[in-house]
Amino acid sequence: MLTGAGISAESGVPTFRDAQTGLWAQFRPEDLATPEAFARDPKRIWQWYEWRRGLVRAAEPNAGHRALADLAQRVPQLTLVTQNVDGLHQRAGSHDVIEYHGNLFRDRCSVEGAVRDRATGTTSGLPECARCGALLRPDVVWFGEAIPAQAQRQADDAATNCDVFLSIGTAAAVYPAAGLADRAARAGAQVIEVNLEPTGLSERADVALHGKAGTVLPALVQSLART
Ligand code: OAD
Repeated sequence: MLTGAGISAESGVPTFRDAQTGLWAQFRPEDLATPEAFARDPKRIWQWYEWRRGLVRAAEPNAGHRALADLAQRVPQLTLVTQNVDGLHQRAGSHDVIEYHGNLFRDRCSVEGAVRDRATGTTSGLPECARCGALLRPDVVWFGEAIPAQAQRQADDAATNCDVFLSIGTAAAVYPAAGLADRAARAGAQVIEVNLEPTGLSERADVALHGKAGTVLPALVQSLART
């Protein structure tokens, strides 16, 4: 299954593309979520990411996250791929989550490319690598960057080999994540969408359930428990 920002919306974490409340309605992605923007103005990028870290720290997993953690206990095998960088699935009890777009709370060295600790007593006033002193950046995938190789491989394998593919709370607009449902469908899986409103995937899905993830998912898991 693949989740997106919509599953965390009921926890108070803003989505990206919702017209009034989405982050991309207020900010331009090219100013905040590209390597070029970081090279131009790392201080601004860090301010934005620290603000997002604060929002997520104050948030709690919701009934949708909890239903998916519960579902994993009830089916023989479940692979959870998330585009979310907020860690709320793990806080709700999901294990082995494939973080397709990275994690908001990890820092990565902008030169070495590896996850690193922060140096103490920095000169720039920004997070610096404890090993080489270069600037650290958030360990998330920005526009124009590749998906972490292992996450890509695991997600492709899971999509190719699953019987049912759930697409939850994602506008299904950003590739390669949005291509996973098609990969699963080509391999013969049933595709089920759970989203507040129709998306580009809805017409191609076998079943499209429209409603809040925090309502639809617990009901879905309950109905499975009865069968
Ligand atoms: P979007 O903001 O594009 O889409 C969120 C979807 O969730 C929309 O279709 C909403 O209708 C739906 N939604 C909102 N509230 C919901 C709720 N309570 N229950 C169910 N659905 C709800 O977010 P993503 O598809 O996750 O990438 O965005 C994909 C990527 O684009 C993100 O990972 C991020 C962004 O740019 C990077 O930063 C690389």
